[in-house]
Amino acid sequence: MAGKPGYDGAQDWRAPVRAREEEGAAGAANPFGRGDPAPFFFLSACRFQIGHNGALKIRITRQDPMTYAAITGWGKCMPPSVLTNADLATFLDTDDEWIVSRTGMKERRISHVSAIEMATVAAKRALACAGLDAADLDLIVYGSCSNDEQVPNSASGVQIGLAAHHAGAMDVNTACTSFLYGLSTASAMIRSGAVRNAVVIGVELISPYMDWSNRGVAVLFGDGCAAVVLQASEREEGVLAEKLGCIAEARQTLRVRGMGCAYANRNITLGDTLWDFDGQEIFKRAVGGMSQASEAVLAKRGVRPEDIDLVVPHQANLRIIESVVKRAGLPMDKVMLTVQRYGNMSAATVPVALVEALEEGRVKPGALMLMPAFGAGLTFCAHLVRWGERVTPIGHSDAELPPSPRSALEIVNGVRAIRAAQGGRSDAGLISVEYAEARQR
Ligand code: UT7
Repeated sequence: MAGKPGYDGAQDWRAPVRAREEEGAAGAANPFGRGDPAPFFFLSACRFQIGHNGALKIRITRQDPMTYAAITGWGKCMPPSVLTNADLATFLDTDDEWIVSRTGMKERRISHVSAIEMATVAAKRALACAGLDAADLDLIVYGSCSNDEQVPNSASGVQIGLAAHHAGAMDVNTACTSFLYGLSTASAMIRSGAVRNAVVIGVELISPYMDWSNRGVAVLFGDGCAAVVLQASEREEGVLAEKLGCIAEARQTLRVRGMGCAYANRNITLGDTLWDFDGQEIFKRAVGGMSQASEAVLAKRGVRPEDIDLVVPHQANLRIIESVVKRAGLPMDKVMLTVQRYGNMSAATVPVALVEALEEGRVKPGALMLMPAFGAGLTFCAHLVRWGERVTPIGHSDAELPPSPRSALEIVNGVRAIRAAQGGRSDAGLISVEYAEARQR
C-alpha cells in the first residue's frame, strides 16, 4: 500500500506487520535470501508453462488491485429501559453478588419495540456516519437468532424502513456469532465484486422468549442492536482474516425449546420456552473455540499478540473474556468491555462494543482489532479487522426510538403475567421433539 494517499512511509502503520509477513513469505519461497522480497513478488507474478515442444514458457501476469470491505459507518440502538440485578431478584432466587461474581453483569436492557425497529434506527445511524445514502445500498445482512417473524425475513423489514430499495436483504443466524458471520458474508461479497455497499446488523430481542422462571439463564441476557456500513475499498481495511467454526457435537448444550417449526402443532404458545443450557460445558467450549480461532487468525496474517491494538470480544461472561484474553497473551486493558452494562446481547454484543469503543476514542486510525465470538451451535469465530483512517462520523441521523412507556421490570413482569394467564408452559410439546443430533445417531 506504500505510495497510496495517507500511507506514505512515515505514517505506514502496517509496516512492522507487513515486513514480517513479507519476510515469512519470502523466507519460504525466495531463493534470493530473506532480506529482499522483490524477487519473490516478481516470481509470484509469473505463470510457468511447458510448451508442446518441451520449452519452458514464462508469462507475466498483471495483478489487479485487491478489493477490501472497509468499515466506514457505525451506529447502535440501545433500548432505554434498564433491568438491574436487583430487579431480577424481585422475582428470581438470585442476588447481585452472585450475578456480578459469576458473570460480571450489573444490568441489561429490555426493549419495548421490535427487533426490526431497533435495527432500522441503528442502520440509519450507521449510514449517516458513513455519509452514504440508503438508495446506494446493495445489501443488508441481518444477523440475529430472535427474528420478529420467520417469513418474511427481517432484513426486508429493515430495507423498507431505510427506503433502501436497491438493496438485497438477507438474514444470517449463527446465534451469538451472527454479526461476525454476517460481516464475513458481506465482506466476501464486496471482495468478489457482487456488491459495493452493505450494511451488516447485529440485533437481538431475547426478552420475549426468555424463560423468566429460570435463574440459570434469565440473568444473563439482554436486548440491543448495532450496525456497520461496509464499502468497497482498495485500501487494506476491514476484515483481513477470519476463522469460522462450529462444534456441532455440543449443539445440545444450548437450545431454546419452543422456537422454530419443530414445535409447530404441539400445543405450545409461542414465547413459552424451555432453555437447555449447560453453562459449564458452554463455558469450556467457548474458551477453547474462541482461543483456537484467535490463534488461527493471528497465524494466518503473521500477526503477534502485541500487534493487536484492541480486542472486541463477544460479551457472554467476564470470566470467559478474561480466559480468552489471557490465553491470547493480551492484557485486559486492550479489551473493550460492555458486559457489565448490557449483559449478553448475543449477536449484538460485538457491534455494540465496537460502536462504543469508537465513541470512547479507543479505536485509533489504522488500529488492528481482534474480534472473537461463540454462540449456540456451538458456532465460534475470530476476525482480524484493520480500521481505516477515519474514526469520527461524517454525519448524524436524527432517527430515534419512541420513548418507552414502561420500565424494564414492568415489561418483563408483563411477559410473565401473560404466560401465567395462559396456564404455564406446555411441557409435553416442548420436550417430545426429536432433534437433528438424535436422528444422526
Ligand atoms: O453466548 C452464549 C451463551 N452462553 C454462555 O455464555 C454460558 C457460559 N457459561 C457461563 O457463563 C457460566 O457457566 C454461568 C454464568 C452460566 C454459570 O456460572 P457457573 O460458575 O458455571 O455456575 P454453576 O452453573 O456451576 O452454578 C453454581 C451454583 C449452583 O448452585 P449449587 O448447585 O452449587 O447449589 C446454581 O444452582 O449457582 C447456582 N445458580 C445461581 N445462584 C444464584 C445458578 N444461577 C444462579 C443465579 N443466582 N442466577
